[in-house]
Amino acid sequence: MSPDKERHFELDLTKTQTPEIFVGANILEQMPDYLKGREEIYRNLHGKGWRFAIVTDETVAGLYGEDLVERFRASGLNIAVLPPIKEGEGSKSIQSYEEVASQLEEGEYTRHTVVVALGGGVIGDLAGFVAATYRRGIAYVQVPTTLLAQVDSSIGGKVGIDIRFVKNMLGTFYHPFATFVDPQLLRTLPESEIRSGLGEIIKYGAIDHELFEKINRNLDALLALNIDKLSEVIADCVAIKVELVQEDPEDFGVRQVLNFGHTIGHGVEEASSYEISHGEAVAIGMCIETQIGVAMGIWTQQERQSLISLTERAGLRTKVPTNIDLEQVIANTRHDKKRVSGIKLVLPFGVESSKVEGHTSIEVCEDELRNVLEDNVAKQE
Ligand SMILES: NC(=O)c1ccc[n+]([C@@H]2O[C@H](COP(=O)([O-])OP(=O)(O)OC[C@H]3O[C@@H](n4cnc5c(N)ncnc54)[C@H](O)[C@@H]3O)[C@@H](O)[C@H]2O)c1
Ligand SMILES: [Zn+2]
Repeated sequence: MSPDKERHFELDLTKTQTPEIFVGANILEQMPDYLKGREEIYRNLHGKGWRFAIVTDETVAGLYGEDLVERFRASGLNIAVLPPIKEGEGSKSIQSYEEVASQLEEGEYTRHTVVVALGGGVIGDLAGFVAATYRRGIAYVQVPTTLLAQVDSSIGGKVGIDIRFVKNMLGTFYHPFATFVDPQLLRTLPESEIRSGLGEIIKYGAIDHELFEKINRNLDALLALNIDKLSEVIADCVAIKVELVQEDPEDFGVRQVLNFGHTIGHGVEEASSYEISHGEAVAIGMCIETQIGVAMGIWTQQERQSLISLTERAGLRTKVPTNIDLEQVIANTRHDKKRVSGIKLVLPFGVESSKVEGHTSIEVCEDELRNVLEDNVAKQE
């Protein structure tokens, strides 16, 4: 083509979404009316209302499925619960992805559908990924029911599934238009899952030093499910995540601090075949990664000790249990997506003396990782 016949076009795709996050005890009561309002706007634009499809797991369906359906129907919304999927990390799979997408297709759900992801991080990641891709993308909302999902996974738009046990290998960024965080839902959560959520909460504490102190002061109230304290701390974590995602939506810069503890954490989580929960593995990862941080002068020994003490008080492991194969942990970090050449670790600056908040990335080789893992093996229940 001669230059004078060449043409150039630009698509202006800067229309942005503004996901909304509501945090508060009993906030779910306000959800149907909020959605009704949003539906009216949608109906004016598209001439059609929404059908809502709840994606959830077997446990959460039994606890909250019917109640949510009743609330929605009382507000005149058209809603149904899809057949619940099996609980656990195993459901972040191609099979479950196909199962949910097929249920939508069999139920003749059109593009005028809103998926309601009701559950923990597994459901949020899976349902969000289905929503991102079903009929090239339909709307969804998040109703996180675990502490971990309330402070972390339901916000920020990372959705995806695992392949061949490699975590989050298939995924995308796709934001729910709204997230409803109701700490009252945590009353039925097993204590082990509360502790798992505390793993991620302590991670936020390592990022924000005032929050670290607040968690230290209020740990007993948090473990006792004091709803006021939980609501406050959850909102603090959400505020940190919102700020980081706002500044770095695609995770190339400041948002990466949220990966603290995750390189080793994911390695341990996978090597345990998911017997060790995500938050628990992240706690182990943070305690070990800071040993490298101390060696590199990024953390002081005292700061690392404060992190370990808080982690122990939260009833979380700080070392790798003896039954975990360290070589498997190392092998797992090889396919960690965050890896470029060496094994990349992301560390916030220490939790105490320095008031500097921010993070640094370091790379270690396999031998350094092996040494630090061998230093941190313990028989613990
Ligand atoms: N997308 C992200 O940004 C992001 C961030 C952090 C973690 N994650 C992912 O989140 C997943 C872990 O999520 P999780 O810890 O919530 O685990 P999960 O979703 O497996 O839930 C844990 C267990 O709690 C049960 N449960 C959930 N809510 C309950 C309630 N209110 N009462 C009683 N039982 C309840 C579930 O049935 C399940 O058995 C991992 O796959 C992790 O990779 C994603
Ligand atoms: Zn995490």
